[in-house]
Amino acid sequence: MKTLYTALITCALLFTTSQIMAKDTLTKILVLIHSDTGGTYKMAQEIAKGIENNPHTEATIKLVQSSKNALLHDLQIATPEELPTYDGVVWGSPVYFGNISTPMSAFFAKTVDLWTTHALEGMPTAVFMSAGSGAGKELALQSFWNSLAVHGMILVSNGIRATEKLDNSIPQGTSVLGASSLASNKTVQRPSESELLIAYTQGQNFAKVAKALKGTFQKKEESTPKQVVTDVETTLKQKNIILPVAPNPVGNYTPYSRSGNLVFINQVALKDGKILYPGKVGVDITEEQAKQATEQTMLNVIAVLKLAVDGDLNRVKKTVQLTGIFNTTPDYSQHANLMNVASDLSVAIFGEKGKHARGTLGATSVPVNSAVEIQAIFEIE
Ligand SMILES: Cc1cc2nc3c(=O)[nH]c(=O)nc-3n(C[C@H](O)[C@H](O)[C@H](O)COP(=O)(O)O)c2cc1C
Repeated sequence: MKTLYTALITCALLFTTSQIMAKDTLTKILVLIHSDTGGTYKMAQEIAKGIENNPHTEATIKLVQSSKNALLHDLQIATPEELPTYDGVVWGSPVYFGNISTPMSAFFAKTVDLWTTHALEGMPTAVFMSAGSGAGKELALQSFWNSLAVHGMILVSNGIRATEKLDNSIPQGTSVLGASSLASNKTVQRPSESELLIAYTQGQNFAKVAKALKGTFQKKEESTPKQVVTDVETTLKQKNIILPVAPNPVGNYTPYSRSGNLVFINQVALKDGKILYPGKVGVDITEEQAKQATEQTMLNVIAVLKLAVDGDLNRVKKTVQLTGIFNTTPDYSQHANLMNVASDLSVAIFGEKGKHARGTLGATSVPVNSAVEIQAIFEIE
């Protein structure tokens, strides 16, 4: 019995040790992209395949910002803080005017702390791009390199790898600096097979270098809590929250007003051009109906907010303050209960960022006999 017990313990220990070793030997590579129309993403998928063709390697594709493209909806958004937890980073971007794209540039602007703390020094890195005609694509690839050199990363070039296998009967987006695609050259579907082959080869070679350099530079432990960035549109879908069409102003004012990074919005309980449950709370309508009117009003607020951030609710940094004005009798005291509906909705949609300061008050009347008006202030990017 004792022998069996010892054997079991030994097996368990061996299993745990091999698990820890497997985790330790896994080379983790981030493929970090911006993509509008999906060309860069298709190249990224091929790079990832090439990476994972090496044993004990893992490629994770993430975005620098959320995308409206359905193809990219399920991808996570990376934070600058998580970069030092990888063994290498491969960057992909569309070419914008012979340069990296504006969102990619904005992501780099958020890496100042990583730069000044030397967090990425010695880490291998590589770049790839999706161009239109290809105008200025080498300049663009080179400009990517500039930023990475400033970070002290080890730039892994492509050289002329796999070029002998290319179909040279049509233009191809190759470069010694990194793979690229000529997306608007539609003689064939883009990325072309040759462009995908170069991307695959780049991933394969990059992973070899990353494996070799693993452990030679300071890497942050993965246990560092990662900030989970949730896509607001995904949250809305998951929670079945449907935003209405933003109501139009009915006077000489705008649906929202922006001052600096603050957005100011005022809404009543308009639904499909009519007020939902109009009247005084406790007299004309029940508290339950007033809550539904409050929910509708807050949905209108968020719909207008979406206009203010050009359709990208991920740009909302914070719900700063909500003020609920309710159509009540002088002795009414349950304003907070009604307003909780709006507050809960803000937190349901924006999480921690949706928490806010709040005011509530009763009024003898509210415009268009709405049961509620909400005045909201948000901070946006
Ligand atoms: C603002 C802007 C500037 C662009 N500038 C260039 C350029 O200089 N050279 C080029 O070849 N393509 C240029 N393009 C085209 C994109 O690089 C091309 O459509 C790319 O494939 C988009 O990648 P995506 O499908 O991952 O979004 C530009 C596109 C935009 C929106």
